[in-house]
Amino acid sequence: MSDNLQTELELLKQKLAELNHAYYVLDNPLVSDAQYDELYKKLLEIEKQHPEWITLNSPSQRVGDKPLSHFESVTHAVPMFSLDNAFSQDDLVDFQRRIKDRLNTQEEVEFSAEPKMDGLAINIRYVDGKLAQATTRGDGLVGEDVTHNIRTLPSLPLHLLGKGWPHILEVRGEVFMSKQVFHSLNEEFVSRNEKPFANPRNAAAGTLRQLDPKIAAQRKLSLYLYGWGQISEQWLLPSTYSAAIQTFKDWGLPVNPDSQVVLGAKGMSDYYDQLIEKRADLPYEIDGIVYKVNRLDTHEKLGFTAKAPRWAIARKFPAEEVWTRLLDVDIQVGRTGALTPVARLEPVSVGGVIVSNATLHNLDEIERKDVRIGDMVIVRRAGDVIPEVVGPVLAQRPDSVKKFMMPNACPECGSAVVKEQDKAVYRCTGGLFCPAQRKRALQHFVSRKAMDIVGLGDKLIEQLGALEIVKHPDDLYRLDVQTLAAMDRMAEKSAQKVIDAINASKQTTLARFVFALGIPEVGEVTAKNLANHFLSLEAIIAATKEALVEVDDVGDIVAEHIVNFFNQPHNKEVIDGLLAAGVHWPTPQVKAIAENSIFANKVVVLTGSLQQLTRSDAKQKLEALGAKVTGSVSAKTDFVIAGEKAGSKLTKAEQLGISVLTEAEWIEMMGDNNG
Ligand code: IVH
Repeated sequence: MSDNLQTELELLKQKLAELNHAYYVLDNPLVSDAQYDELYKKLLEIEKQHPEWITLNSPSQRVGDKPLSHFESVTHAVPMFSLDNAFSQDDLVDFQRRIKDRLNTQEEVEFSAEPKMDGLAINIRYVDGKLAQATTRGDGLVGEDVTHNIRTLPSLPLHLLGKGWPHILEVRGEVFMSKQVFHSLNEEFVSRNEKPFANPRNAAAGTLRQLDPKIAAQRKLSLYLYGWGQISEQWLLPSTYSAAIQTFKDWGLPVNPDSQVVLGAKGMSDYYDQLIEKRADLPYEIDGIVYKVNRLDTHEKLGFTAKAPRWAIARKFPAEEVWTRLLDVDIQVGRTGALTPVARLEPVSVGGVIVSNATLHNLDEIERKDVRIGDMVIVRRAGDVIPEVVGPVLAQRPDSVKKFMMPNACPECGSAVVKEQDKAVYRCTGGLFCPAQRKRALQHFVSRKAMDIVGLGDKLIEQLGALEIVKHPDDLYRLDVQTLAAMDRMAEKSAQKVIDAINASKQTTLARFVFALGIPEVGEVTAKNLANHFLSLEAIIAATKEALVEVDDVGDIVAEHIVNFFNQPHNKEVIDGLLAAGVHWPTPQVKAIAENSIFANKVVVLTGSLQQLTRSDAKQKLEALGAKVTGSVSAKTDFVIAGEKAGSKLTKAEQLGISVLTEAEWIEMMGDNNG
């Protein structure tokens, strides 16, 4: 009897999986909703009688397991790359020409053209046909395990259909929220007086980041697969990308029905025209088109740059513009006190994104565009770029408009605002006493290239600032475990870690210290140059403008910022506090090493991914040897150090006949000098 019931349960599971597939993937329901519900109810009844028979692949489990306490990091078996962008038909013609050149052929190339969904990339691993793990893209190398949420996607089979799948199959695609789900979700948020999601991508990301899978189950995310990661050896990929995707479809995996195989630049352009026409009617938001070379042996031949495959490109749609009312202009105060006017807009949807703020850059821009408060304005958003105000709609200007004026006093701290000579920038003179600058200054002070204090995140800094526990960087060195442990989301252990990091940061370098102070216009390189030139903090503080402009990279404006900074008594107080707390550094000794090294006074470019050192360690070593490390290859470059997957910079170096070193060769060359 029990055996029969168990068989019935298995049959029900299979039947329901089939019906789900027909409904969500094929868009072709086989039974009425009522019939589906009846079968589903039967399944629940049996599972209620025999909870021991409930398996993860049961349709009942899609409503979500128990919440997780945190996300696990997962290293991708095969890295997840991004895509290069094309912004015009010309870019696409170039794209095909580059491919033809590399393949040494005149023949038109066949591409798979597909909508670029505005969601998140995901890697889904099947082991022996069973859904085993789903991870977000993360930084491309390491993502987060979101299996608990991905399992709730109704279109995704928990078990692959058909047969012949490889032992390990990783499929990749985009998780997104349909326009319909997005709108009803946002309506619900608004009715509860909660903040709606800005766009479907944020909504999908926010949903995947939930620890409680019940939320994902309710929100019904969608998914289309468009690629793969690790595939175990015994399965031979077909000869084209489109055939591989068709195979995925046969195995029950959801793929985009709007994809097409097209030929050459003309085919790409026709598909573009066709999709632009269809765009508004598509059930999901798209932000462009992805074109991929169809032949897989060509993928092998073309390979990857450091960031993206050479066989694919994303054609972005042009910027979208809409009209809305400029309600007011707010002022944002940055780390170095620069005041940025920000447009407060009547919320409006631009290309599926709700925009209520847009940058106005600076006062000159506002005057040049003649934008006034109360105007109807044109707002533009291009791809992922910050929305901007293009200008006013003069025909609709009401009489009541007001001109925007920069305030004389900082809106955050009341200090005087001054206009910088020859520049459009207005600055608050409150320095580290302005709470807005303070928060940003602290974030900068602890950042990796400054004092490198790990564990002091933005939220913690904000909280410590709001409670007036940490107002200035030197206050950090007076924190204790008890105080930190009392903050949100902190405990004794995590507090101890932060304290250890703070203590460790006391031993630093003069360059890091100068950079950490956050003097306007003094970046990492200028700080290093100052340290190497003056060798002591006292000397930098005492330097006149004339002495400062002697330093590489330091011009009149930067020199003036430096002098002004050290002239402020409160900046001096903070510095004294830091020194009193025990922050110290050895005297820079760069020059001595530099002279006898091969790299002294040489211009070096690092490219590709290094295996033995991080990029910034490598840069530091080279600089310690007297090299100048730059970002782009030119005739002035002396050496290019090429890591794995080096791309266009390596090609250029080869063209220019510049010496190229592998990472290992370079390390060998440094020999004893690399300490
Ligand atoms: S292929 C190695 N195809 O766009 C190639 N990506 O801008 C990987 N995206 O990270 C991507 N629709 O999140 C591909 N049909 C599509 C896509 C698509 C959306 C996203 C994906 C990717 C990003 C790159």
